[in-house]
Amino acid sequence: MTNAFAKVTAIRGMNDALPGPGARWEQLESLVRTWLRTYGYRNMRTPILEHTRLFTRGIGEVTDIVEKEMYSFTDSLNAESLTMRPEFTAGIVRACIEHNLLYDRPQRVYSMGPVFRHERPQRGRYRQFHQIDVEALGLAGPDIDAEMIVMVARLWKRLGITDVRLELNSLGQATERAAHRAALISHLEQHVGILDEEARRRMYTNPLRVLDTKNPAMQAMANAAPRLFDYLGEESRSHFDAVCARLDDAGIAYTLNPRMVRGLDYYNLTVFEWITDKLGAQATVCGGGRYDGLFELLGGKPAPAIGFALGMERLIDLWEQYAPAPADPECDVYIVNQGEEAQRRAAVIAESLRDQGVSVIVHAGGGSFKSQFKRADASAASIAVILAGDELAGGTASVKMLRAADSAVQANQQLQVPLENLVAFLKDRI
Ligand code: HAM
Repeated sequence: MTNAFAKVTAIRGMNDALPGPGARWEQLESLVRTWLRTYGYRNMRTPILEHTRLFTRGIGEVTDIVEKEMYSFTDSLNAESLTMRPEFTAGIVRACIEHNLLYDRPQRVYSMGPVFRHERPQRGRYRQFHQIDVEALGLAGPDIDAEMIVMVARLWKRLGITDVRLELNSLGQATERAAHRAALISHLEQHVGILDEEARRRMYTNPLRVLDTKNPAMQAMANAAPRLFDYLGEESRSHFDAVCARLDDAGIAYTLNPRMVRGLDYYNLTVFEWITDKLGAQATVCGGGRYDGLFELLGGKPAPAIGFALGMERLIDLWEQYAPAPADPECDVYIVNQGEEAQRRAAVIAESLRDQGVSVIVHAGGGSFKSQFKRADASAASIAVILAGDELAGGTASVKMLRAADSAVQANQQLQVPLENLVAFLKDRI
């Protein structure tokens, strides 16, 4: 029997960001918006729920995400299969097609928010996590590929993060992948005896993913497999070289990882990942690449595009290893008050202070001065104001500098300030 009063807990792999740590999220979000604006990216928002077929078609039927990680359910009201977005890209492309956003010019857009994947939770891997997703839509050249990577390098610099490395690959074009695929399948057929069950299941549907195996018995076979990079034609090669040349111009180091396949099927040409050794097993902080076929695949006019996403939990985990937590006071001014008269005056004074942009908490819930002071101190306010009986009748308030101080006023000093000067006095000292 279920206990009606039992605690309801959060869903496994889905986290709360509490006040305090929440400040780190806000700090990151505001910094990220500024960073993206400097490259001309604008915010857009798409729904968390989409038709399931958007993702099966967009991300690919034979991917881990679509095969086993999507939160899908049937909307019982109209018997439609819906899915909580496991990523942003497919939804953003859908919206661009639906609103004909590329009709007269390319678009640089970003989104931030929760995405959902039913993975086995561990450090850096959650079932609800957050992405900063950045997309350049309608641009084909290698210049934009390089700019996107340079952009991420600027973010590392801004955050003071140094231990990240860039891995790069080219997935070429569909015909090149088809030729490589045929060679790969015949390689897998020659080694079918050592393939595990998952590899055998995937060898004809998604042979590239077979190489992604963690099975030690298959490593040598995977290492000896034909490399897609060797099947690239001249155009794909020169696109890749042009990206590399621009990264060299920017002084950004990279390594070619010919085994990088990414977990989504829409990619072609440039793919990249930023990886760190500071996060344990979930080492990829940022991943992305070009997806020139996705618009057409989702029913739109063909349009080139490239983008990437940063995992915010991983990013914050990493950033915290470089930067101290931001101060997160509850308010600037905490007003201690006793008695009904003082409480009413406090509410009026607080509104005048807020008119000036000062953040104010008026103590609520009564209690002795001592307990109210304790609360004021715990709020991390710079200044406490005391409104009470006799002083109030005499037209003054006491002001105690808890943290703020200027040359004329010492920290912890208590002053009498006439009520008519109070707002101006406080505003000058915040
Ligand atoms: P993705 O590589 O699947 O790419 O995810 C991007 C980032 O999200 C990863 O590098 C990682 O930091 C973070 N991430 C992924 N799964 C989890 C998880 N379970 N828990 C915590 N963080 C996670 C995409 O999603 C593509 N849509 C990126 C893209 C945009 N490509 C082109 N445009």
